[in-house]
Amino acid sequence: MALHIAVDVVRESEQSLTSQIQRSIRKEIVEGILHPGTRLPSSRRLADDLGVSRSVVVEAFGQLVAEGYLEAVRGAGTRVVEHLDAAPRPVVPTLLDAGPEPPVPDVRWDLRPGGRNFSAFPRREWLTCYQRVLHKADATDHGYPPLAGEPGLRTELAHCLGRLRGVRTSPHQVMVAAGFAQTLSLLCTALAEDGHALLAIEDPGHPGQRRFVRDSGLRPVPVPVDAEGIDVDALAASGARAVLVTPAHQFPTGARMSARRREALVRWARTVDGRVIEDDYDGGVWYDRDGTRPLALQREAPEHVVYAGTASKSLAPGLRLGWAAVPGPLLDRLLRVRARHDLGTDTLTQLAFAELLRGGLFDRHLRRLNARCRSRRATLEEAVARHLPGAAVTGPAAGLHAYIRLPPHVDEAALVAGARARSVLVRGGAAFHARPQRAVPALVVGHAHLPASGLTEAVRELAAVLARP
Ligand SMILES: Cc1ncc(COP(=O)(O)O)c(C=O)c1O
Repeated sequence: MALHIAVDVVRESEQSLTSQIQRSIRKEIVEGILHPGTRLPSSRRLADDLGVSRSVVVEAFGQLVAEGYLEAVRGAGTRVVEHLDAAPRPVVPTLLDAGPEPPVPDVRWDLRPGGRNFSAFPRREWLTCYQRVLHKADATDHGYPPLAGEPGLRTELAHCLGRLRGVRTSPHQVMVAAGFAQTLSLLCTALAEDGHALLAIEDPGHPGQRRFVRDSGLRPVPVPVDAEGIDVDALAASGARAVLVTPAHQFPTGARMSARRREALVRWARTVDGRVIEDDYDGGVWYDRDGTRPLALQREAPEHVVYAGTASKSLAPGLRLGWAAVPGPLLDRLLRVRARHDLGTDTLTQLAFAELLRGGLFDRHLRRLNARCRSRRATLEEAVARHLPGAAVTGPAAGLHAYIRLPPHVDEAALVAGARARSVLVRGGAAFHARPQRAVPALVVGHAHLPASGLTEAVRELAAVLARP
C-alpha cells in the first residue's frame, strides 16, 4: 500500500501495473472516497511508494486525465477534477458517430474511433497562441467574423495545405467551417439546389455521414470499396454525379486509393462534369515508414474536387474547426447557403489556429502526434500478432484508428458483445457497411487515445472472448 494514497498493486496479476493503479484511483474517485480537488502525490513519490517505475504512474495518471477524472494543474501537480458526475458517464455518440446506442456504463477500455485524443492536445501551445491573439485583438475581432473565415487564417491554411497536402488553392478559395460536418452539410444543400438527387458514398464508410447526407436532402448511394479505394466502374453505373471519398486513408478500412483509381476517378468527374468531395479527415496524421504519403486528390482536378479538412483528428473535435478548398464560383454558393444558417466561425479560435500554423507550432505538434500514434500502432500490431492468431492490422500506418481484419470463421457480433461484457467497447466492421451482410469480419479500433498497456490489455480481453468455447 502506498504511503500517500490508498493504492496497491499486485505484481503477479495478469493486469498491468498501470492498469491496476488507474483502476484503483478511478474507483476511489467514483465512490467519492477521493474528493473533487484532492491533490494526488507526485508520480515520482507514488512510484517510490509502490516500488514501480515512474513511467507506469505517469501513464496511469495520463489516462485518468484523458478520461476526465484527474487534471494536471501547472505548478500544483495532479488533482481530482472539481466537477465530476457521480453517475457512470454514458458514452456520448458524436454527430458523425455510428448512431445512437444504449448508454454503456463506464468501460475500462473504449476502443471506438472518434477523436477522444484529449491528452495529445497541445494545451501549452494553444494557450500561448490564444493569449497572444487575445492581447492583440481589437474591436473588429470582437465583431461578426467574415463568413468565409478570418483572412489571416485563410492565408495560413492555403499555405499549409499546399505545403503539407499538395492542395492547389489560394486564400480566396479557402473557407473555414465548423468541422467537416458543416462543409458536408453546405455542400449537400448546394448540390440539391443544383439538381443533384444522389450523392455516392463509400461502402464501407462512415455510418453517421450516411445519415447526415440523407438528412441533408440527398440520397446516399453506397459504392463498394476494395483495397484500391472506391470502385469507379460501380460509381459510374450508380447514376450519381457527385461522390464523397476518403482517398488518402479510406474510412474505415484504411485503404489508400491507388494511382490507377485516382486517375479513373478524375476521368469520371470530368466525363460527367461531376463533383468529388475529398474528406481528408486525418491528412496530417501519417506515420507509415514504407510508402510515400499520399497527397490530396484535389491537386489532380481542382475544378472538380472540393478538398475538405478538419482539426478534429489533429487537434480536437471540440474545437469544431474545419476548412475547405472550394473550386471557383461554388464558394459563393456555399456562403450564400451558409448565410441562411449561421454567422461564421468563432474569431478568436480562428486567430489562435492561424497563430499555431504561422509559428510552426502546428508542425511540431503533428510530429509529436505522429510519433505517439506510430508507437500505439506498433503496440496494437504486436498485440494482435501475439494474441489474435489469423487476424491482421491492415492498411498504411496513419490516422487515429486501425482496421483489424479477423479470420473468416470469427463471429464478429459475438466478439463485440463479449468484449463489451468484459468492459471493452469496440466497433465491428459490419457497423460501417451499408449492406452489413457483405461485410467480412473486422474491428475498427481507435488506438491513439489509449495508453500502450491499455491497448495490449484490451486485445488480450478480445482474445479471451475468442478463446471461450
Ligand atoms: C471519416 C470522417 N470524416 C470526417 C470526420 C470529422 O468530422 P468533423 O470535422 O465534423 O468533426 C470524422 C471524424 O470522426 C471522420 O471519421
